[in-house]
Order: sequence, then C-alpha cells, then structure tokens
Amino acid sequence: MTGGGTGICRGIALTLASVGCNVAITSRKLEHLEPAAAEIERAGVRSLAIAGDVREPAAVDAVVTQTVQKFGGLDIVVNGAAGNFFCLAENLSPNGFGTVVDIDLKGTFNVSRAAFPHLKLRNGVILNISATLQLLGTVGQAHASAAKAGVDALTRALAAEWGPAGVRVNAVAPGPVEGTEGVRRLVTPEAMKMIDDSCPLGRLATIDDVANAALFLCSDAAAFVTGVVLVVDGGLWLRSARALAGE
Ligand code: COA
Repeated sequence: MTGGGTGICRGIALTLASVGCNVAITSRKLEHLEPAAAEIERAGVRSLAIAGDVREPAAVDAVVTQTVQKFGGLDIVVNGAAGNFFCLAENLSPNGFGTVVDIDLKGTFNVSRAAFPHLKLRNGVILNISATLQLLGTVGQAHASAAKAGVDALTRALAAEWGPAGVRVNAVAPGPVEGTEGVRRLVTPEAMKMIDDSCPLGRLATIDDVANAALFLCSDAAAFVTGVVLVVDGGLWLRSARALAGE
C-alpha cells in the first residue's frame, strides 16, 4: 500500500489488517509510517514500513522486492500515494503541474508495473485511489484533475491488459472525506456548507466509507469486477453541476 501512513490510506491499511491481511506500507517519510505500522500489528497481522518515493522506479522495485521477501508474495496493491495543493492554473509552474502528475499518475503506473509479475502468480488485485474533482471543472485543481483522470484511464487500460492474467484493476473515487489532509487543505468553510446542503446522503464521507468500498473491491466479493472506478461520495458530485429554481 503506497501512502499508507495517514488519512484514507491508513484507513484502508487498517481495514485490510482487520480481515487478516499482512500489510506493507510505503511513503516518503518513515516517521509517517511507523505509527500506522504499529497499529496494523495490533490487529494481529504483520506489517512492514518502507520509505520510498513512488516517482523513483528503482525505489519502487526495492519496496516490492522487500515486501515479497517478507510476506512470501503479493495479493493486493493499493496505489494511494498522492500530492495536492490548491493553485490556479495561471499561477502554477510546469514543475508544480508535473510533480502532482508524477506522484499520482506515474507513481500509480510505476508501482503497478513493478507489482504485476508477482500479482499474476496469485490472481492479485490492484486498487487505485482516484477522486471526483476530475469529473467536473474544479477550480485550482488542473494538476490533480489531469492526474486523476489519468489514473481512471490507467485503471481501465490495465484491467483490459491484465485481466487475462487473472489480475483485477479497479479504483475507488472519494469526494471530500472528513478528517483528511485533503479536506484540511482544500475545502473552505463555505464549500463545507455547500457539501452539507447538497450531498444527497446528507453528510461528509468518513474514512471508513472509503475503506469499506476498498475492501469490497479487493475481496472475492468483487471477483468479477474489473476496470471500475467506484465513486464513494454520497452522490455529492451528481448534485454539483447546477441548482434549479425551487431547490
Ligand atoms: N502551490 C503552487 N505550487 C506548488 C505548491 C503550492 N501549494 N506546492 C508545491 N508547488 C510546486 C513547487 O513550487 C515546485 O515547483 P517549482 O520548482 O516550479 O517551484 C513543485 O510544485 C514541486 O514542489 P516541491 O515542494 O519541491 O515538491 P515535493 O516533491 O517536495 O512535494 C507535494 C510535492 C505535492 C507532495 C507537496 O506540495 C506537498 O507536500 N503537499 C502536501 C501534502 C499532500 O499533498 N497531501 C495530500 C493532500 S490530498
């Protein structure tokens, strides 16, 4: 699991641990990973925390190799590592745009590519973490929207290529999720009120909402599901386009 130390990624890691998975987590900073690794072990399974940057193919290969050595194989890969910030496109440098695409999109490819030889030995699963901001014209998010649209396309392309090898590839697409760095950084109090007012299911998503959907897609309950981007946002993005008189 990449990005496994905090937020949604930590939630998915703990949910997988709760059903008996040994979980390796990786992100750039070991100090972000160690508390989550200790929590995973408290669930009675084994954990492995490895520092690595998904933008570096050699580092990714090393993470995959160490994981396979410690656990004896690889069944599930969760591509959760992401970077984001609010910035209008006219103020964004080429390196700023490229950095987010490198982490979110190219990182997802690097990890999937390195893991595939191991996943195909065990009918493995890849789960990508997408978003909903690319489904609309989200202001200040050109970089992240481009990256996540790419993640959605990669999910479908790899599902088609790797299905014959027995490997499923899906994505979960959360909207704003309470208690995450993304909401702290990106969602203003006004936007928060809009979410409360317009979400058909009437609340903000929790980390557990996303982790439960992730567990479904990684489990045999989804044995015939591949190439899907499953939106988990209480219907929020469906209501984001326009409001008619009387609403
Ligand atoms: N606004 C505009 N540009 C920004 C930016 C911001 N808030 N943050 C970074 N950038 C630009 C930098 O200016 C730089 O471009 P430049 O060289 O042209 O100046 C480029 O992005 C790379 O930034 P840098 O900080 O060197 O990259 P990094 O690899 O250390 O970290 C991020 C990149 C995205 C991970 C970093 O911005 C970050 O720590 N974000 C917060 C954590 C996060 O994203 N959590 C997930 C929330 S969903």
